[in-house]
Amino acid sequence: MSEIGRTHTCGALRAADAGREVVLLGWAANVRDHGGCVFINLRDRHGVTQLKADQAVSVPMYQAASVVKPESVLRAVGVVVDRGGNRNPNLPTGEVEVELTALEVLNPAKPLPFPIADEIDAQEVTRLTYRYLDLRRPSLTRNMVLRSDIVKQVRGHLDHEGFLEIETPILTKSTPEGARDYLVPSRVHPGEFYALPQSPQTFKQILMVAGMDRYYQIARCFRDEDLRADRQPEFTQIDMEVSFATPEILYGIIEGMLAAIWKNVLGVDIPRPFLRMPYAEAIEKYGSDKPDLRFGLPMTTITDVVVQSGFRVFADTAASGGVVTAMRVPDAESWSRKDIDGLTKVATDNGAKGLAWFKVGADDWSGSAAKFLGPEERAAILERVGASVGDLILVVADAAGPARQALGAVRLKVGDRLGLRPFGQWAFLWVTDFPMFEWDANGNRPSAMHHPFTSMVPEDLDKLETAPLECRARAYDVVLNGTELGGGSIRIHRRDVQQRVFKALGLSDESARAKFGFLLDAFEYGAPPHGGIALGLDRLVMLITGAASIRDVIAFPKTTAASCLMTDAPSDADPAQLRELHLELRKPAE
Ligand code: AMO
Ligand code: AMP
Repeated sequence: MSEIGRTHTCGALRAADAGREVVLLGWAANVRDHGGCVFINLRDRHGVTQLKADQAVSVPMYQAASVVKPESVLRAVGVVVDRGGNRNPNLPTGEVEVELTALEVLNPAKPLPFPIADEIDAQEVTRLTYRYLDLRRPSLTRNMVLRSDIVKQVRGHLDHEGFLEIETPILTKSTPEGARDYLVPSRVHPGEFYALPQSPQTFKQILMVAGMDRYYQIARCFRDEDLRADRQPEFTQIDMEVSFATPEILYGIIEGMLAAIWKNVLGVDIPRPFLRMPYAEAIEKYGSDKPDLRFGLPMTTITDVVVQSGFRVFADTAASGGVVTAMRVPDAESWSRKDIDGLTKVATDNGAKGLAWFKVGADDWSGSAAKFLGPEERAAILERVGASVGDLILVVADAAGPARQALGAVRLKVGDRLGLRPFGQWAFLWVTDFPMFEWDANGNRPSAMHHPFTSMVPEDLDKLETAPLECRARAYDVVLNGTELGGGSIRIHRRDVQQRVFKALGLSDESARAKFGFLLDAFEYGAPPHGGIALGLDRLVMLITGAASIRDVIAFPKTTAASCLMTDAPSDADPAQLRELHLELRKPAE
């Protein structure tokens, strides 16, 4: 076998290279025989170059090329030829082709389970099983390249801002971010377990106590939670912590970092500073703490307008302390009954009891409950929601939370239908002024809305024990196009305050000491005020690439059942390994 000796990548050659002898290495993307002349598109991650073997020039070369199987690995030697009038404008290397003088199959490929192309109809199961083939598809290769470019920008920017990159442990103690832990049994300590970190939260705070001033890490996080299109059981954060931080300092760092990514990876200038919106406003107007602000169409509370409503649902909801919230859809004459039924389904799927709708006609209103509304009430609603003839008004009446969440989901659907959520438009914002606590899933005790290390607005500290739900957190989220990119907070840095917050969360002193004693102790040895934030790298890459699934921006993702189809993880453990780990299995009954 000859020396490898690559002279160019498959994306490099241009007309100016004509006449050169070159050596290219890559995969046979396709092999076409045009009657006496074989063309092979040779592909590597840099691009595609056309190889040519003409029977009229060399019969042995032609024969060697014509038997190449797709996706075989080739070493191609040849001379660069200008294609003249025959150029391919769709390929960066399309000005030239390489007339083969030698061709070596370094490794032949079997017939493929699916073609290496962007548009394929293979099942995702098959794609994930043969992930090495899937990753050769141009769109996935591009996602990997973009992801790497983004991380380079992150490192460059944070280095410039005076951050140290420091790794934190993977075998560690439970870190509460609201999910279940992945546990790893200890061989050396029978019956004891490490937890994989849900985030590096406590370690990065300890690094501030240690005087590191500014820390960042491209950090692996592990959360055993129900998976969705934008969630993975292991994922990556751009994680950082800053001593003597204020929210303004962190906003500046993050906006600068995102601007550098957009500028240097996408060539797009994003306007700064980002918009800021208090949590309560986001919920009232958009029904979400991560509003998509690529478009307007906010919701309006009309509870006070409909206390005396002729429509019982509205009046009863208002009387019982609920909320009636409305939005207008402009120029909605073309919306059919079926379209509106679709919206009703979105509302009910999101917890609403129904969706009332009114079409504002020139003479009369039509719609599900129009007949119940008199002229005065109609006029008051029109004025409040800013609607006029031709508009559609959508209304949900319910308890505040479900009403707003449901109409917020309807709003997104309306945005989709009106084409108001296009790829390539970037609406960044900071959501601020979060409450410190919310009721936990069972509704019987406060749980931390961000995490238990988040500090409060100082004036609210004396309400911690008496009115916890009124306490405001010094927390913030950065949102892009309706997705939470990241979240963070200014932290508690005093032991007494941290202990009070643990207590408010229902953690006894004893279990607080057992779980977080190291952090509480550290706070007594000169802990600087500090704060930080973490951005989901996978979500960031997903939004930048327009990928439909988080799995398309992770080289080796897990399925929604948390399995890796390529390696077949998780899998059975060897009985000897289990004995060594002091474990005995009790499998659930079939
Ligand atoms: P939080 O839990 O909000 O904060 O996580 C920060 C960001 O990480 C991303 N993210 C995920 N991405 C993919 N799959 C998941 N399962 C997943 N879970 C979260 C999101 C989210 O905004 N320690 C704090 C940060 C801090 O306070 O500094 C934390 O982890 O984009
Ligand atoms: P009904 O009288 O129950 O048939 O409802 C009449 C209309 O009001 C239907 O379009 C329902 O979808 C709608 N509706 C029912 N409950 C609510 C609610 N809580 N909020 C808004 N609309 C509702």
